[in-house]
Amino acid sequence: MLTNEKILDALREVKDPELNRSLVELNMIRNIQIDGKRVSLDVILTISGCPLKAKIGEDVEKAVKDLGAEQVEIRFGSMTDEERAALAEKLRRGQKAAPGAGPGPISPLLSEGSRTEFIAIASGKGGVGKSTVTVNLAVALAREGKKVGIIDADIYGFSVPDMMGIEQRPVVIDEMILPVERFGVKVMSMGFFVQDNSPVVWRGPMLGKMLRNFLSQVHWDEPDYILLDLPPGTGDVALDVHQLIPKSKEILVTTPHATASFVAARAGAMAIKTKHEILGVVENMAWYTNKHGEREYVFGRGGGEKLASELRTELLAQIPLGAPPESAEAPAVWPEDHPTGQIYARLAQTVIRKVPVTSNG
Ligand SMILES: Nc1ncnc2c1ncn2[C@@H]1O[C@H](COP(=O)(O)OP(=O)(O)O)[C@@H](O)[C@H]1O
Ligand SMILES: [Mg+2]
Repeated sequence: MLTNEKILDALREVKDPELNRSLVELNMIRNIQIDGKRVSLDVILTISGCPLKAKIGEDVEKAVKDLGAEQVEIRFGSMTDEERAALAEKLRRGQKAAPGAGPGPISPLLSEGSRTEFIAIASGKGGVGKSTVTVNLAVALAREGKKVGIIDADIYGFSVPDMMGIEQRPVVIDEMILPVERFGVKVMSMGFFVQDNSPVVWRGPMLGKMLRNFLSQVHWDEPDYILLDLPPGTGDVALDVHQLIPKSKEILVTTPHATASFVAARAGAMAIKTKHEILGVVENMAWYTNKHGEREYVFGRGGGEKLASELRTELLAQIPLGAPPESAEAPAVWPEDHPTGQIYARLAQTVIRKVPVTSNG
């Protein structure tokens, strides 16, 4: 026989996809009425027009039908402002505070006990493929079963959402921002909040503030890795990141030009000065495979190796020239089975080996 308790128990297993918490725990299930094998109930969404309404509805219906209900009627509602505030508070409390941590860090992700690894993707100058590498490494890590986030912090152009084909905007609950998830990667970008991508004059302190907000107000839910797409160069802005996220490790992206690697070396020197561990170098646009299957080194050769040896680190990957096929799911995301997608898979495996995380999925 169907009972309230059984239904609630079953719905405890159903999670809000964005908050990754049970609908019951979030107090989203109300007013259960049972009439033989017919069940009706209210699902109270965090906001009206929640983009995941259909998915939540399907999951609830399935869970209740699995218990033996033949007909499930769902009435959708949305939380009041007070309820949303209470929920945000509950989620904040639920973010695991680090053991023994005082009032220090602005985000539990930065505390001693946090298991989230930060990896900044840096380059000496723009246009070398830093964002491309960030996006594809993140997707490849997610394909390896890791929980991954991206913070798009390149103030000269927030390109990550477009590159990943993200059209959604993040849901904001009482000053708590839920990152947008795509290909299993949680993405936060200032580009989500800038009107039609109009250029903003950013100054160092503003970036620091943005990063702080992204760390303290975004509900990241303990990813294994957060990749930071940094602004190019060695200016204030990069320094800010070093100070804000002292435990961040770093990957340097360069093109194969000798001069490019020289420029990148300055960014590397700064990482060393600020005691950030350099994981290695990714050489992008390394070669072009012509129609005879031969490699043409159109942008020179050896820049990645040179930079790696100067910084006493390793060359983690060489990415050839080329754009993902038209059929790809997003403009800049390489499919898993494409040779370039495979190179990113190996890069992800190398990163996982060098920066192991304790999670079990
Ligand atoms: N391996 C590559 N082959 C061809 N084009 C590339 C490659 N990597 C990046 N690009 C293109 O080069 C441009 C700059 O890349 P992007 O990732 O935005 O660089 P950055 O973030 O360093 O400024 C983009 O148009 C991107 O699509
Ligand atoms: Mg970029």
